[in-house]
Amino acid sequence: MHRKSLWMLVCGLLCLPLVAASAQNSGKAADAAGHQWWQNAVFYEVYPRSFADSNNDGVGDLNGITSKLDYLKKLGVDAIWISPCFPSPQKDFGYDVSDYENVDPMYGTLADFDRLAKEAKKRGIHIILDFVVNHTSDQHKWFLDSKSSRTAEHRDWYIWRDGKGPDQPPNNWVSDFGGPAWTFDPTTNQYYYHFFEAAQPDLNWRNPAVKDAMFDVERWWLKRGVSGFRLDAVDTLFEDPDLNDNPIERPGKNALGDPIEENKYNDNLPEVHDVLRGLRKIADEYDGVLIGETWTDDIVALNRYYGDGNNELQLPMDFLFATVNKLSPAEFRKQIAAVDAASGWPTFVISNHDIVRSYDRYGDGAHNDQIAKVMAGLYLTLRGTPIMYYGEEIGMTTTPPTRKEDVKDPLGITGWPEEKGRDGERTPMQWNENENAGFSKATPWLPVPPSYKTHNVADESKDPDSVLSFYKKVLKLRHTNPALLDGSYVPLNENDQNVLAYLRVYKDQAVLVALNMSGTEQTASFDLSKKGFSGVKSLVATEKAEAKGETVTLGPFGVFIGQLAK
Ligand code: NOJ
Repeated sequence: MHRKSLWMLVCGLLCLPLVAASAQNSGKAADAAGHQWWQNAVFYEVYPRSFADSNNDGVGDLNGITSKLDYLKKLGVDAIWISPCFPSPQKDFGYDVSDYENVDPMYGTLADFDRLAKEAKKRGIHIILDFVVNHTSDQHKWFLDSKSSRTAEHRDWYIWRDGKGPDQPPNNWVSDFGGPAWTFDPTTNQYYYHFFEAAQPDLNWRNPAVKDAMFDVERWWLKRGVSGFRLDAVDTLFEDPDLNDNPIERPGKNALGDPIEENKYNDNLPEVHDVLRGLRKIADEYDGVLIGETWTDDIVALNRYYGDGNNELQLPMDFLFATVNKLSPAEFRKQIAAVDAASGWPTFVISNHDIVRSYDRYGDGAHNDQIAKVMAGLYLTLRGTPIMYYGEEIGMTTTPPTRKEDVKDPLGITGWPEEKGRDGERTPMQWNENENAGFSKATPWLPVPPSYKTHNVADESKDPDSVLSFYKKVLKLRHTNPALLDGSYVPLNENDQNVLAYLRVYKDQAVLVALNMSGTEQTASFDLSKKGFSGVKSLVATEKAEAKGETVTLGPFGVFIGQLAK
């Protein structure tokens, strides 16, 4: 099934009784409460093409990111994950790496990277790189050698097979980007495998030489000062060695015109865990963090990515939470409870460069800013690490192209018009009301959405009711309130269809979070005295949200976050 369209599905998730979250910190410096730095940190994804353009060529760059570090610090960000900035033919905008140990000239130089790392460190901001582990570019020297002959040194670094017969690929696997997952190469008369684009051949992780080379890449960047990696498409690392055909999930075709397959034999294979343990061992030597792009069908599979004894990924992203497809207290409750019971530390995201922005997914068209605050009030107050996506904090909209000739994303080019691709969620950051939203003096690589006139950093910084001001308040609270950092998650009023409410309880303190997910005023009463608490003091609240005794009144899509007293 296509990964991007997963968010549209209601996941049939069962909350299984998993081992309660406990100590998981095999890394180094824990704080007084026993947490690693990445547990207390707020992460922020920067899509470098679109964040800030320092040399005015229409594409963002590393110096652009450096120039915005003060903004990120003020916002309350502790770590930035930079989507791939390595040399690349840019067929998939950097997710096709042709050299893992350098910076693409379009983004700057290694010296620019070092300056960014140094300036970030000064401000207490960690740098996380995007490690594209599943595949390289077809222009990587390893692949160029691999395809040159059947006996080449790197032949077995990729997955080469004979076809089933003339013009027949080895099996029925389809690429996530459309068409067969196999491309025939006439030089050696064999097919090579690619989960994604043909320009992104899959590495053969069964070959120990591949493992060694990729582990070396990891060390190389850790030595250079990065604090960890987001592991791209990590669930797709291994394939069934017998190349069994994937079962057809349901009849019909997907948005790319391919059969709808269950990725039984080329996704989430158990062999990945051995590699993750290896990557983690190295990360631990540098107090580094591993974040996973972990698309799973259920919480059991997600839970496996922490590893037995929490020796794999510290932060596997919970896409089951991210893909709740409507503003539904019941759905969110279910997903929060599931990941809260997992064996590791939860990792929450609501948007990224592959999925429609949360602003549009949950927005009803009339209250989008309020709803953006509800979502911030939710995932920034949960037990776990949140990963923000650039522009989310100012309420940026998804703005897909309207004409095929404007599409840049290979997925949209293949899938048009049914699948418009991911350009819409990758538009330039909206800094101010000036030309090109202050992103660049040149024409940006993707057009700036019209919403920059009303939603931009400069204007929202001045408006105390803006989405940005709300994010800042919640992030500040998260960094200073012990219950929000360390408190356990205690759901409240679990049958309420409109208000999602919970406590974060830490020792004798607690924070109450009440989120109105409906467009009408709501009143919710809580049995707080039974839990040993009395009185609620507002910490952050939207207009018309207030507490009297044990009752909270919330305006349409209102948010109330309050401190409870014993
Ligand atoms: C997942 C990345 O997030 C996506 O943008 C990319 O196209 C694929 N992996 C292939 O690397």
